[in-house]
Parts: sequence; structure tokens; C-alpha cells
Amino acid sequence: MKSDNELKTKAYQAVKNSQDKVRQDPYRLHYHIMPSVGLLNDPNGFVYYQGKYHLFYQWNPFGTNHSSKFWGHFSSKNLVDWHEEPIALAPSSWFDKNGCYSGSAIVHEDQLYLFYTGNVRDENGDRETYQCLAISSDGVNFDKKGPVVQLPNGYTAHFRDPKVWKHEEKWYMIIGAQTEQVTGTVVLYESIDLISWRFLGPITERQDFGYMWECPDLFSLNDKDVLLFSPQGIEPEGYHYQNIYQSGYFVGKLDYQEVSYQHGRFEEIDRGFDFYAPQTTVDNKGRRLMFGWMGVPEENEQDHPTISHHWIHALTMPRQLELKDGKLFQHPVEELVNLRKEAVIYSDVVIKGEKIQMPRVNGNAVELFLEVKENASRQFSVSFGNNTQVLFDQENKLVTLKRKSMKSNQLEKRQCHLNDFKNVRIFLDASSIEIFINGGEEVFTTRIFDDVKNDSIYFHSTGKMIIDINKWELKQV
Ligand code: FRU
Repeated sequence: MKSDNELKTKAYQAVKNSQDKVRQDPYRLHYHIMPSVGLLNDPNGFVYYQGKYHLFYQWNPFGTNHSSKFWGHFSSKNLVDWHEEPIALAPSSWFDKNGCYSGSAIVHEDQLYLFYTGNVRDENGDRETYQCLAISSDGVNFDKKGPVVQLPNGYTAHFRDPKVWKHEEKWYMIIGAQTEQVTGTVVLYESIDLISWRFLGPITERQDFGYMWECPDLFSLNDKDVLLFSPQGIEPEGYHYQNIYQSGYFVGKLDYQEVSYQHGRFEEIDRGFDFYAPQTTVDNKGRRLMFGWMGVPEENEQDHPTISHHWIHALTMPRQLELKDGKLFQHPVEELVNLRKEAVIYSDVVIKGEKIQMPRVNGNAVELFLEVKENASRQFSVSFGNNTQVLFDQENKLVTLKRKSMKSNQLEKRQCHLNDFKNVRIFLDASSIEIFINGGEEVFTTRIFDDVKNDSIYFHSTGKMIIDINKWELKQV
């Protein structure tokens, strides 16, 4: 086994070796968090500490597969400009030698605590899992304390991704789990000192909802407890659950004494092709903020065109969550207005069953905000370049996002129901699009790999519409 220093040195060397190749990629994003080289997956340890946001991520510096996992680290004062910090965790210890897997962060007595899963393969290749702790006093250097939670009876070694929070006087930890009957669930622990943890049990038992629940997150909004998680093994059902794995949530109430969670139905949180393993934190302004991984595990990874440039995947924009009528709404955080450069604004644009382009409404790092004033059109669409389109179908109350498949030249789609189309806010970056419909009621997050030179934007209606069109060029950060 390599020492911590050796592994980190090897990782920095991998960055040096590939960074020129990475930078030449026209699909590099302008204002999203990406790995300097290699593979990024889940956001981890999102926390506000000592006046800054800290955001860690699952990182394989050595390649674009999932073979090795470090915790990379970014920090930011404003959620817009991110500074890359030294590597936080390397898989250098007996309890995490096959990966420092996902986890979370909390602040206690001005120290930063990271809880993560140590992934281990024994000599037969069998999986072992340890929930581990690392502590920092400066937010940069982390001291590994080793495992604090062992695998309890009744669960397989698919037991990972601890999320920790405080409720009243105690600390709680939730972990994504698979029972020995191969059903997914989450289990709850409690602690008074963050070191010794008492197993309380599963908070919900479902026999019919997948074989593993990854990356759970439990938080309160408006007196409700939201459980956000990423279940695996859910079959497609109409336009639901079309991706290989999903992310979504229950809204309910956790009874900490009874260890039971009464909740409603599962809602997918994002309707696009590329969204997984989101994580939230609460900041100094009391906002519930979320980042997601703008990707999904395994599906399509070998087809990503960025692999030839030695990197893959990115995180979403930071979003603020709001719970309204039992549904999570997502808002791009207000700080993102600081990305804006020149504005192009057209009020009361009349589109009459035609396809139009507006002067200077184009680009590949842009924000677009469209407000519907009048709508007598059965269908309305916005198209980006040759192959990406979002289509609002008033007649069938459906939204459809189309993109070119990474595997073939075919178009593929994701859809969701929408009662009434009022407005849409779109963040387009060189190879990604995030679409917030009706103030975040529905969101589509997707990578798009198209001709970056074609930066045209078209509006198309089948009947008469009046809309306001606002467009901003966005900064490179
Ligand atoms: C989710 C996940 C987590 C795990 C991590 C490993 O994408 O599978 O469950 O901790 O990725 O990188």
C-alpha cells in the first residue's frame, strides 16, 4: 500500500501529465465545477465553514473510470468563484484502501468533521465497508481518525455514504444500505460525541423499491423532513425512471424516538439525462443548498467524448431548495447573477406559428430567461444548435427534452408532465444544459455533446405567443 504522501504526489503528477490535453477540449465547461483531470462523481462534504463554502467531490485522478477514489476539494466565498484546494482524502489506509467513498461534513467546536465510507476489497475481492471520520482545524489538512461505524447484522457490504446532522441535542447519521434480502433502505444512528455511534435501525422498510439506496440526505424544510436519496433497481414506468438510476425524495416526518419515518410517494427530483447523488447543506443565511453530480454511474460513460481528453463529468450549478405544496422547487442560487455579462432583452416578442431567431440571442455559455405573456400555441420549443431542444406541449401537458445520443446520431428524449407553462430559466454551458421551468417546479439537467461552433438559439411556436426574452452572456470562472 502506498503512503498518503506518495498517493497524493502521484495524483498531482497525473494532473500535470494530462492538464494540457484536458484544457484543449472544446467541451470543457465555463462556469461549472469539473475535475482538473480524470473522473469526478458525487459531491461530498458540502458545508459552510470559517466564512467559506467547502465542497468536496469523488475523484479518480488516474483515469476516466471508477477504479480509485480520492476526495478532491474546492472552496468559495460566493458560490461562483471556486478555488481548488489540496486533496482532502487519499485512499491510503487499511480502512479505505480501495476508495474514500462518499460522505458528508459538519462543523463542531470550530473543527471540520468529514464522515465518509472506506471501501475495502479483501484478498478474495469481497467488499468491506467502514464509516470513517477525518477532522480538520483549518479546512485544508485532514487528520484521519479511522472507522467509527462497523457494518451491523442484517445488511450487505453495500452500506455507505454517511450524512450527519444535529437535531436538538444529539447528532444523527443516516447511511444508504442494502438488506440481506437485497432491498434498499436507509439506517439511522445517533451520537453525543460524534465518535461513538448507536445503531437505531432502518427508518423505512420497502420491499418493492430497488436493491440499494445510495447517498441519502435527510433535512427539515417548513416543518417537514425530506429524505433525498438515489435508489438503484427501479424499473422504468411511462416517462418516469428512464435513467439507469434515479435521484428523488420523500416528504414526511421523522419520529426520532420511534425511529420511524412516515412519508408520501417518491418524486424524481430531476427529469433530465444526467443527474445523480445530490447533497445538501444549510448555509449561514439559513438556505438549504444543493449540488448534484451532472452524470449517472456507468451508463454511457465509455461513450463520453471528453474521455479522449482525459476527463469526465461535472457538478451541477448550486441550487436553493424550497418546499411548496409538498414538492421541492429548485432555484439557481441568487449569487449566479454575478456570472452575467452583457444583457440582451426583448419585451413582448410576438411569435406567430413560426421559427425565429433574435439578434444576439446565441452563444454557448449563456443564461436565458423566457416569460410567457400570452399563449395560444399548442406547442412551443427552444432549440440549441442542431440537436438539443426543449419542447412545451400545452395540449398534452408535457415537456420534452431532446438531445443527440452519445452512442449514435439518434435523438433521445426525457419527458415530464407540466400543467401550465409560465416561464423557463436555462443555463447553457459548452456541453451542459440546466432547465428550470416555472420557478424550479420541474428541472432537467443534461450533458450535450454537439457541434460547439453552432451556437444558434431558435424559438418556434405553432400558434400565437407573446414572450419576453432575456439573455445574458456568462463569465468564464
Ligand atoms: C454514488 C456512489 C456512492 C459511492 C460513490 C463511490 O455515485 O456509488 O454510493 O460512495 O459513488 O464513488
